[in-house]
Amino acid sequence: MFDFFKKKVSLSNDEQKRVVTEDYADVSQIAQYFKNETGVTFDKQTTILKSKVTTFCRQMAIGSFRELLNAIKDDKKLKQSLVDYLTTNETFFYREFKQIEELVRLVKNEGRRVEILCAPSATGEEPYSIVIALLEAGVMPSNFHVTGIDINSDALSKANKAVYRERNVRNLSLEAIEKYFTKENGNYILKDFIKQHVTFILMNLFDPSFKSIGKFDFVFSRNMLIYFDQETKLKAKEILESMRKNQNQDIFFGHADLF
Ligand SMILES: C[S@@+](CC[C@H](N)C(=O)[O-])C[C@H]1O[C@@H](n2cnc3c(N)ncnc32)[C@H](O)[C@@H]1O
Repeated sequence: MFDFFKKKVSLSNDEQKRVVTEDYADVSQIAQYFKNETGVTFDKQTTILKSKVTTFCRQMAIGSFRELLNAIKDDKKLKQSLVDYLTTNETFFYREFKQIEELVRLVKNEGRRVEILCAPSATGEEPYSIVIALLEAGVMPSNFHVTGIDINSDALSKANKAVYRERNVRNLSLEAIEKYFTKENGNYILKDFIKQHVTFILMNLFDPSFKSIGKFDFVFSRNMLIYFDQETKLKAKEILESMRKNQNQDIFFGHADLF
């Protein structure tokens, strides 16, 4: 009893306050809010979500999930930090490359300038892979542009920097690495003549402003729908379909993005 008392009084004021107010019990309202805002569901991973949000709250000195929920409704920066913390964006160059090869074939057939959308683009590997594959196939640099959107601001900042690790370029040939990257201290820095073909926009697919970014000849949306439930997947599919110039052109979904 005495030891416990001694331990408590030795805490700083902030720490004492946190000991008294911490309440990280029911994460369901955060889960619901996050799903409504981003589409991403943690329905089958409540324990993981609870542990992640608890860590986030402690880092931000927020004592309870209720306090966090109230705060993110007004504080856009805090909300963005939570979105950045909870969305997953691990990817690599030339992932599911057969689809990129198919895109290259279609772009060559068009023989004119095309606009390509990557929604989501994550840290940039997918849109940059498209650029590399198009140039490798001899498509004129002036004949295409790629727009990448993602809800995660950290991912987009990495995409804009375009500095990668070996695991990200593991599918590229040594020749391609030599040609398109500068190697420095174990980092693979993408060259500017590739970067200049991609524009990144911080954007939530479900935000009404998404539709105002324009219409596209080809739409890629790979490995995002896997984080959505069935109803949200269908909603996302409808939005993505409305972004096409040609309603007959199929969208490139990821192999795991089953409906
Ligand atoms: C695993 S990455 C996929 C990246 C790339 N398309 C690929 O296949 O390699 C999934 C991305 O979806 C993004 N995302 C999740 N919900 C989103 C939303 N509502 N709007 C835009 N991006 C979203 C995440 O931030 C994450 O970067």
